[in-house]
Amino acid sequence: MSDIPWSVDESTRVLGIETSCDETAAAVVTGGTNVLSSVVNSQVDIHARYGGVVPEIASRGHLDTLNPVVAQALVEAGVDESEIGAVAATCGPGLVGSLLVGVASAKALSLVWGVPYVGVNHLESHLYAAFLEEPDLEFPLVVLLVSGGHTMLVAVHGHGRYEVMGGTLDDAAGEAFDKVARFMGLGYPGGPIIDELAMTGDPEAIKFPRAMLDRDYDFSFSGLKTAVINYLRANPDANAADVAASFQAAVVDVLIIKTRRAARAIEARAMCLAGGVAANSSLREHLLDACMADGVRGFLPSRSMCTDNAAMVASVAWYNLRQTGPTSLASGVNPGLSLG
Ligand code: KG4
Ligand code: ZN
Repeated sequence: MSDIPWSVDESTRVLGIETSCDETAAAVVTGGTNVLSSVVNSQVDIHARYGGVVPEIASRGHLDTLNPVVAQALVEAGVDESEIGAVAATCGPGLVGSLLVGVASAKALSLVWGVPYVGVNHLESHLYAAFLEEPDLEFPLVVLLVSGGHTMLVAVHGHGRYEVMGGTLDDAAGEAFDKVARFMGLGYPGGPIIDELAMTGDPEAIKFPRAMLDRDYDFSFSGLKTAVINYLRANPDANAADVAASFQAAVVDVLIIKTRRAARAIEARAMCLAGGVAANSSLREHLLDACMADGVRGFLPSRSMCTDNAAMVASVAWYNLRQTGPTSLASGVNPGLSLG
């Protein structure tokens, strides 16, 4: 525990900082759900030329842009530093150098401003994107968290009460999108490019495998990626839109089948999406269809809340501050931090 005096109520303004990967973000949120500002500076164009995130470049980028991004978040929120009641930063999982920049800055601001510091789990913050936009979501709910680094099904029984029901045994869903797009020479990040290309293709043109349908809530995307690559090697003149649509359909089918299964198992009140892949048009459409068919609520965060941002960090921090208090300034970062 930090010995900085603190208190938290609905009016407490939390400054959130997110630097776990290649987005430098800062936001001011009150009461856990009221977003006063959310600024995101993406390095995606810088990393695109390397076909993926280069950790060393990412941490240097955060060093250059974090201070201006924080300043902009304060200006856009219409508050000055004396009105901030707590500072939070993502402390893991993520790239170690990138995490260190955000956490060190948050701790420095906490000391200078005399307010508590809260270290936030990046996966937990993705889960909170749903509450930010839909604070009335009732428990229990199932969240399908799909990003470039993670694919997991999480049962949320209450604030801070999670159970990881299953996850990927190899590639994350976003990673599969990025690797297939890279092999097809489409660019980086591959998810949005495949999403758009798939709109003009036939999802039933090629029967790609749906892996591990017999395993309850776990996923595997590495075999699918290999199947796409083998298909393209054997059929170099294949229609790219059909390949994209058929690949995407295989990913989405498995994600939806297992999310429904998980929701049924815990009698969930709602199924939610989180993480960068939650921006996928086909996944969003199919999740809503599934919710309609199963008679449960569906919640899709807006596209800006699906990808990395600091509003979700500040939101988690507010709930955690209320439940468990500040994080010690002696605590560090954990690149391999898990959920729960
Ligand atoms: O959550 P995120 O911003 O970063 C982390 O990995 O934490 O997710 C980025 C991932 C990338 O793999 C990207 O290709 C994927 O999300 N993505 C998408 C779409 N937009 C982003 N995947 C499929 N369809 C999309 N529209
Ligand atoms: Zn993320």
